[in-house]
Amino acid sequence: MPGRRSRRIRALAKINLSLRIVGARADGYHELQTVFQSIALHDTLVLRANDGPFALECGDPACPVDRRNLVWRAAERVWRAAGRRGSPRGFAIELTKRIPIEAGLGGGSSDAAAAVRLLGGWLGVGEEAQRDVAAALGADVPYFLEGGTALGLDRGDLLFPLLDEPKAWVALAVPGFGVSTKEAFSWWDQSSAARRSPKAGRGSHALMNDLEAPVARRHPVIGRLVRALKRAGAAHAAMSGSGSAVFGLFDDRPAAERAGRRLGRGVRVFITPTVGRKAYRRLTAIG
Ligand code: C5P
Repeated sequence: MPGRRSRRIRALAKINLSLRIVGARADGYHELQTVFQSIALHDTLVLRANDGPFALECGDPACPVDRRNLVWRAAERVWRAAGRRGSPRGFAIELTKRIPIEAGLGGGSSDAAAAVRLLGGWLGVGEEAQRDVAAALGADVPYFLEGGTALGLDRGDLLFPLLDEPKAWVALAVPGFGVSTKEAFSWWDQSSAARRSPKAGRGSHALMNDLEAPVARRHPVIGRLVRALKRAGAAHAAMSGSGSAVFGLFDDRPAAERAGRRLGRGVRVFITPTVGRKAYRRLTAIG
């Protein structure tokens, strides 16, 4: 166990600039072509040594602090990857949540990836084993080991770094409800889009989110927010991941702020810049 008693890391959120569903998989997952983009909005994790069984602490009552939390499962898996027996013990993680939950911003997955890196360093688990643990935790988790702009294929976990897009300012609109990722994909399965055979190449490079229509059908406010952001001058606006968050991209901060003010009541608004790969590495360094 290293001498230092505590370590800290940021867990940045993402948006999906595009999310195309290109097929079904035998394992029940969907084959994706998605473009991930890091944004500066982040949670914080602090790891510290303590006596007794592993404990997860979080001040947000909406955030589970048991096995339902991916950070908990990350701790179990890294513990086993380090060759330890039994349940994790001897450390605690304090999680400060800022990324809205069930919003399609990858908060749970980013927290998990951050926990894998923190604990991997603490318990002496190498980077390759950390990548295996991340892939086992969820389809989005491996992306958060890389960050920046990246193309995700297969389940979204076969990653190809892309050239960083020019920095943009993001107006994020988060309605007062969350959407379960599993449910969003099942709504897509029930939609007519699922019955059309994917036509290779046709429209597959357009920036759009195939989950948006089936989710907006159940939650019309999502469609309204996308339209409002476009009217406010967004260069691109769409739902992120499986929702419920909607984003608009703007050239500068004042334009994003102006758009945010026009979104109305009942919606939380975050104004945050995109983050390229180099800055992601710096911002997520363990301190
Ligand atoms: O991997 P993760 O636990 O984040 O995925 C949550 C759910 O989202 C999966 O159980 C699956 O139903 C759905 N999903 C999918 N295809 C993907 C990613 C997620 O069907 N590529």
